[in-house]
Amino acid sequence: MPWDELKPRKFPAFDKDLDGISRQTMEDHYKLYEGYAKKANECRRILNEFDYSEIEGNQVYSPLRAVSIDYTFALLGYKNHDLYFGHLGGDGEDPQGRFAELLDSEFHGGLEEWKQAIRKAASAARGWVIVGYDLNDGSLFNYIMDTQNLWAVYNMVPVLALDVYEHAYARDYGATPDGRKQYVEAFFRNIDWEHVNRQLTQAEAAKEGADRSGAREPAHV
Ligand SMILES: [Fe+2]
Repeated sequence: MPWDELKPRKFPAFDKDLDGISRQTMEDHYKLYEGYAKKANECRRILNEFDYSEIEGNQVYSPLRAVSIDYTFALLGYKNHDLYFGHLGGDGEDPQGRFAELLDSEFHGGLEEWKQAIRKAASAARGWVIVGYDLNDGSLFNYIMDTQNLWAVYNMVPVLALDVYEHAYARDYGATPDGRKQYVEAFFRNIDWEHVNRQLTQAEAAKEGADRSGAREPAHV
């Protein structure tokens, strides 16, 4: 299917008063998301319109290199916020369903250990913590990402996206490590675990499909 323009979506979280994340923060944050969609579209159009018989490929600097890299920043900025806004607006509480079940078996100390691990990861990251499902082995992992286009790995499907950039919390809590910790608690008070579990269901279905196709059978020697 050929590429088509990204369109910012509306999310139920914007029709609610969240617990500890102000409407103003959410509205300002949405403008960033719209900006990522706009710039991802702009980069992709430029990349589609280059004359590849003429354009320079240069590893030090070239327009092709610059736009290709910035495209990943814009595109993943769009995708991460799509998930972030999508799973806000819930009742929070403890993780539930399949997500909780998988985490409980993934971490040596079970779900309680994960709850501590994700909070520490949120303090250790400069941009995002993504809980991702690995399509190869079916495991869950907390990925620390300093920007949205750094340190994600192939075949990882994000199921939970925790934005720890200062724009997510500075207005409500101040741009300090303690402010970030308070924001992270607020984030978890507003999570819609059904949304997280829908993401996980899709990821598990994709893995099952790939497994059934035999695409990952070990090579015969
Ligand atoms: Fe953000």
